[in-house]
Amino acid sequence: MTTGSLLAADLVIAVLAAAGWLGGGAASAARRRPLALGLVAFALLATLARAITIIALARAGWWFAAEKVLIAAPLSLAAVAVAGPRLLRAPGDIRSVAVPLLFAGYAASGGLLVTVLHGYPASAGVGLLAVAGVLAATTVTWRVLGARPSPTVSRAALAAAVAALVTGTGLAVTPDAVTGVAHDHGYRDARTAGEPTRRFTLTAGTATVDVSGRDVAAWAFNGQVPGPELTATVGDVLEVTLRNRDIARGVTLHWHGYDVPNSQDGVPGVTQAAVLPGQEFVYRFRADQVGTYWYHTHAASDVGVRKGLYGALVVRPAPVTGVDVTVPVHTLAGLPLPAPRVEPVEAGVRVRLRLINTDSTTHRYALAGTPFRVAAIDGSDLRNPTPLVATAVLIPAGGRYDLVFTAPATPVALSVDGREVYATGPVSAATGAWPVLDPLTYGVASPVPWARFDREFTLVLDRGLDLRGLLPRYAHTVNGAADPDIPPQVVRLGDIVKFTIVNRSQVVHPWHLHGHHVLVLTRNGRPATGSLLWLDSFDVRPGEVWEVAFRADNPGMWANHCHNLAHADAGMTLHLLYS
Ligand code: C2O
Ligand code: CU
Repeated sequence: MTTGSLLAADLVIAVLAAAGWLGGGAASAARRRPLALGLVAFALLATLARAITIIALARAGWWFAAEKVLIAAPLSLAAVAVAGPRLLRAPGDIRSVAVPLLFAGYAASGGLLVTVLHGYPASAGVGLLAVAGVLAATTVTWRVLGARPSPTVSRAALAAAVAALVTGTGLAVTPDAVTGVAHDHGYRDARTAGEPTRRFTLTAGTATVDVSGRDVAAWAFNGQVPGPELTATVGDVLEVTLRNRDIARGVTLHWHGYDVPNSQDGVPGVTQAAVLPGQEFVYRFRADQVGTYWYHTHAASDVGVRKGLYGALVVRPAPVTGVDVTVPVHTLAGLPLPAPRVEPVEAGVRVRLRLINTDSTTHRYALAGTPFRVAAIDGSDLRNPTPLVATAVLIPAGGRYDLVFTAPATPVALSVDGREVYATGPVSAATGAWPVLDPLTYGVASPVPWARFDREFTLVLDRGLDLRGLLPRYAHTVNGAADPDIPPQVVRLGDIVKFTIVNRSQVVHPWHLHGHHVLVLTRNGRPATGSLLWLDSFDVRPGEVWEVAFRADNPGMWANHCHNLAHADAGMTLHLLYS
């Protein structure tokens, strides 16, 4: 069983256990003895099963088990200890066990709430709050059911609850929010200098675009979705003038996967101000990296990219031969882009398909009719990629794969999630059952260039209640905090930095660090054995643990976030900082 499915199973069992105890309590209060006994037996079984899932999760890593071991387990044990003997001792009036059973139910629910609302890291404060809540609920139940605990017992319970509540509140509200870190906005380097050799102008504005025959209200660059494909040859100096006609929330250009100087990175509030209607901003950088990239607005990025403010950026090595096609996949107002493109290619011609996933979720691509290789991922060439046949690839949000093949005499077709987007002729192939390529075992390994790390950070991705803003929100969190309260990662120029990224949640988080490509070291404790993978976008699935590293060689303040842009918006954004 994967850690992801264990996490899900544990959640379901915890709900069942809580429901069993609460139902058993209610049934005994209503003097429904057989029902009560049945539910209690069920709850006991679920509690036992949970012990197993918690042990398995603890073996996968403390971050998956922490609050379950520290809070849920003691509460469950206390619940069983209180409810069990009473049940055996009281064959007469089943009603007398209602309070202990409901106590068990509150305890199980309390542990569950800590997992769902608070997450990682578990703190003493939150544990005490949970205990206070359980004791308070039990005391109230006691009174409502008219049972008569001795005054000493009820006063002791009340006092314990108040003490736990007070201590818990004190500990839970720790003032560790980090406020603005000063840095130099005027950072420039040689890579922005030089006479431009490629000039583009992108004007952002609202537009109505045609998607497979339907009019869609979009936000577009130069009136089209995607925006114009920007192409360059390695060594060019690009100058891109961004204008905003009427996007009230402002726009910027972020060069996704392109490790530009920080001043050109296009993150509003971090590297520049958002470009408002009527304003413009000029980006300039040298095209040092060959490969497939894309650009998109980083102002109101969730809605902005979704509505169409994106396009491809392709930098080619000097002479290029053969067919070279860019396939930026997107979902606009629920409709898939691009429209299918069908064009014959002569047998023997080299074809490169540059696949770009500009959505916030993973897409599955299948190339039928020819063996092919994955020549590059996220703009970096792979070492000795072997030919693949009848194999699908999964591209994370923001990620790019370059597929290459020599055109056969018969047609080939590329499909995305079963929909054809590119073909050289009619192909009928069922690709749905194809196995998926694991890039961590693909191609030929070279040694990892670093033996030790100067700085290490752990990022535990989860969900949790964020009470720091004006309105409470159910945020996507990193180490229990949400943007802007996640402490920045401060490193020094030249450091070799390692991230351990842990997904404790139930959804995929496509991780994206600006300004750097990270080298994948391990996934779930197993080292990557294929070609060195230098990624800027990678899916951390539920229950997965990734170790990646990079050299801090591009100073500035860099966004480091989930590229499910709704998640980034809902808290899952932090910053890497050095000068
Ligand atoms: Cu493509 Cu900060 O994102
Ligand atoms: Cu995410």
